[in-house]
Amino acid sequence: MSNSLLDLARDRADAFLRDLPNRPAGAQTTRDELYAALHVPLSDDGEDPAAVIDALARGVERGLIASAGPRYFGFVIGGSLPVALATDWLTTAWDQNAGTFATSPAASVVEDICREWLLELFDLPRTSSVGFVTGGQMANFTALAAARHGVLRRAGWNVEEDGLAGAPPVHLVVSAAAHITIHSSMRMLGFGTRALVKIDTDEQGRMRAAALRETLRTLDGPMIVCAQAGNVNSGAVDPLREIAAIAHERNAWLHVDGAFGLWGRTTASKRALLDGCELADSWANDAHKWLNVPYDSGIVIVRDSAAHHASMTSTAEYLEQTKGMERDNFDWTPDFSRRARGFAIYSAIRTLGRRGIASLIDNCCDRAQQFAEILGRDKRVAILNDVVLNQVLVRFGDSDELTRAVIARVQREGTCWLGGTTWQGKAAMRISVSNWSTTGEDVEKSCAAILRCADTLSS
Ligand SMILES: Cc1ncc(COP(=O)(O)O)c(C=O)c1O
Repeated sequence: MSNSLLDLARDRADAFLRDLPNRPAGAQTTRDELYAALHVPLSDDGEDPAAVIDALARGVERGLIASAGPRYFGFVIGGSLPVALATDWLTTAWDQNAGTFATSPAASVVEDICREWLLELFDLPRTSSVGFVTGGQMANFTALAAARHGVLRRAGWNVEEDGLAGAPPVHLVVSAAAHITIHSSMRMLGFGTRALVKIDTDEQGRMRAAALRETLRTLDGPMIVCAQAGNVNSGAVDPLREIAAIAHERNAWLHVDGAFGLWGRTTASKRALLDGCELADSWANDAHKWLNVPYDSGIVIVRDSAAHHASMTSTAEYLEQTKGMERDNFDWTPDFSRRARGFAIYSAIRTLGRRGIASLIDNCCDRAQQFAEILGRDKRVAILNDVVLNQVLVRFGDSDELTRAVIARVQREGTCWLGGTTWQGKAAMRISVSNWSTTGEDVEKSCAAILRCADTLSS
C-alpha cells in the first residue's frame, strides 16, 4: 500500500481532531444533503484511491458528529484517548484476526493481559473469564448466554446441545429500569421478553431489594436476576450487596449490567457506591464508554468460566485450537473472526495506570456535579436525580414543553449536545459526562449556552 494514502488519511484525521473542540457538537446536515454529497453511480472500473478518500472525507464532513469532543453529553459516549486512537490505527494496519491463538498470538496474549488488568481494576474474582465484544449489548448477551448455560446445567439440562424446547423453565427477573439491551439479549437467547419479571425501582431507579426478595420467594427452579450498576438516565447503582445475598439464597445467577458504572470500581471515591458488585456471577462493561477507547469495544466478565466457555466455544476439524495455556479469544465471545480490540484497551490501561483511570472517572463525576451546581442555581431549573456518577437529569420550569424546547434549542445552537428522556413520567434533559477531555471550562461554556437557550424561550 502506498504510504501516501496513509499520509492522506493522517492529514484528514489531524484536521478533524484539531477542529474537534470547536466544531458544532451536533448534526449539521440532513440525510438528503449527505446522500447527494456521497452518492455516485457504481462504476465498472473503480476510482483512484486517494481521490476516493478525499471525496469520502469531504462528503461526510457535515454529517460527522463531534461525539468524541469535550462538549458532547448525549447518550453515554466516550471519546478516544490519543494513545487508544493511535493504537487503533495500528490495529487496522496489523489487520489481525483475533479469533484464535493460531491466527494472532499477539492478540491472544494481549487480551489475556487485559483480562488480568481489568479484573484487578474492577476488583472482581481473579479467575473470572473475560471476552472482548463490540459493546454493552453483546456483553449483556454473552453474559446471559453463560447464565442460561449455568442455571440449566444445575437443573441437569445442556442447553447448547438440547436447546430450549423442553428445557426446565428459567425465571428471568430484571430491574424495571433495566437497559433495553437486557431485553434484547433475552429475546436473542430465545426467552422472549414477555417472560421477564420486572422488579420495582425507587425514585433514583434502583431496584428495590425487598421487592426482589418477595418475588424470588414465589419462584422455584432455575433463575437469572439482572441488576445494574449505572442507570442509563440517573447513573444510580442498585443495592448490589443486598441483591447478591437475596439472589444467591435462592440459587439464582446474578448478572450486573455495569456498561459504564463498573468503572466506578476503579476510584476510591465511588467504591462504597459499588459495594457488593464483586458478589455477582457476571458483569457487562464497555471500554468505548468510560475508558475512552474508540468504537467498538465492550467487555464481558463471567465468574464461572466453564459456563462462559461452554456457551460460546465451538470446534471444527480445520481449526487449530489450543490445548495449553494459550487463549483462543473466540472461546469467550459470540464472534469467530474479529478485530483485535484488546490492543487499544491495553494501551489505554498501560498509559493511564490505576491513578490515571481513577482520575479520568473522578473528573467526569466532578464535571457532572459542576453541571448540577451551575444549572441548579437557576430558579427555573430542577435537578431530578442524585448525581452519584456522571449523569445529570435537568428539568426546566417544571414543564415538559419547556424542557423539550430547551433541549431542541441547545441541540441546534451547537455549543454542546445533549439529549432528552422521560424520568418518572416527566420530560428531562439528560447530561452524560463521559469524555476524558471535558474541562471545567467546557462545562461553564455549556451551562451558559443551555441557560441562554432557556432565556430565549422563557422571556
Ligand atoms: C446500562 C447500559 N447497558 C447497556 C448499554 C448498551 O451499550 P452499547 O451501546 O455499548 O451496546 C448502555 C448504553 O448506554 C447502558 O448505559
